[in-house]
Amino acid sequence: MSGIYLHIPFCKKICYYCDFYKTAALDSVEKTVINIAKELELRKNYLNNSVIETIYFGGGTPSVLNINQLKYLLSTIKSNFIISDLVEITLEANPEDLTYDYLHLLKSVGINRLSIGVQSFCDSDLKFMNRRHSAQEAIDSVHLAQNIGYQNISIDIIYGMSFSTTEQFIENIKKALTLDIQHISAYHLSIEERTTFNLFYKKGKLKQIEDEISNEQFYLLRKILLENEFQHYEISNFCKNGFISKHNSNYWKQVSYLGVGPSAHSYNLTSRQWNTANLVRYNKALDNNTLNFEKEDLNPNDKFNDYVITALRTSWGIRFDYLKSTFPDYLVQHFLDKMEKLIQLKQLKIENNSVVVTPEAIFLTDTICGEFIYA
Ligand SMILES: C[S@@+](CC[C@H](N)C(=O)[O-])C[C@H]1O[C@@H](n2cnc3c(N)ncnc32)[C@H](O)[C@@H]1O
Ligand code: SF4
Repeated sequence: MSGIYLHIPFCKKICYYCDFYKTAALDSVEKTVINIAKELELRKNYLNNSVIETIYFGGGTPSVLNINQLKYLLSTIKSNFIISDLVEITLEANPEDLTYDYLHLLKSVGINRLSIGVQSFCDSDLKFMNRRHSAQEAIDSVHLAQNIGYQNISIDIIYGMSFSTTEQFIENIKKALTLDIQHISAYHLSIEERTTFNLFYKKGKLKQIEDEISNEQFYLLRKILLENEFQHYEISNFCKNGFISKHNSNYWKQVSYLGVGPSAHSYNLTSRQWNTANLVRYNKALDNNTLNFEKEDLNPNDKFNDYVITALRTSWGIRFDYLKSTFPDYLVQHFLDKMEKLIQLKQLKIENNSVVVTPEAIFLTDTICGEFIYA
């Protein structure tokens, strides 16, 4: 089984915090869609005829695509790949794009999961982030999608924002719970190099939040969601029973995937490759039926590092049997030595033949992963 990720790098307005590869050059949408379809055809053997279980339109803002463009990409996938009958097809959408008509059309072309970028239910936060929608529009978009029959909806929210309060964040979580959605992705705000927020930060208009407050918000989020039938299955992801994001969990389970579109990454168990993060260069290469990408062949150390970093972020953790059957003895021994120390520190524990991060240490996961890197 495998997945396909399509990167749609267009946004109508650029949010001040966002560092994903995106552009507001909407006049290139049609040309890029044609080239993404061309890339799908050129790379149809990348996954070795493996059955496609998940398709994910990410961005940027995939909901800038009209229905014909989405249909065209989906039919290109269907004619070049073997698709599972139970395929999960997710579209990342901005609330203001989700009109009644558009949602109907999304359903009719087979999009069966929506990931809606809400970020906050507070209008002043949204304004400060340069979002295009209000809190009410975000709520309305979820209700509209539910009325049309969507029963697999995720929302993105952001915490750790120094310009907002913990009380507001608790309000955001409570508001999310009233929406009867199945999945929540909650990301800590990071102030990234090439963003307007970084300029604000340098000018003193935006502060980094204190670690103590970040920590408090993360554990409040976890506590409230666990009390309300959500499972915490990955550091930034929560779901109701049966509604895990299949696509994202396959990334964390070392399943192969093909990523198309500018900046998209692909992984086929032996190497990783990533397309140029430059729309002009991406389109120019495909206009000439070639691809502009870089590739890295993975040695056992790289694969071990990737596995540890991704698996420790999940609630299923690192499986001893997988570790022992996949990696050479020196890496297994390295893992066991480091693990012992972290178990004594109560940052890791053994559960069902796997190693998982303890609830108290989840917020330290990045530091814990760093301990295992085999250089
Ligand atoms: C690729 S973005 C696309 C989503 C969609 N375009 C939207 O804005 O609703 C996915 C999510 O990443 C999160 N994100 C992006 N930049 C972030 C940052 N600097 N810090 C925290 N979260 C961020 C946001 O929650 C966003 O919804
Ligand atoms: S958060 Fe979404 S809409 Fe905003 S700039 Fe990033 S990709 Fe575009």
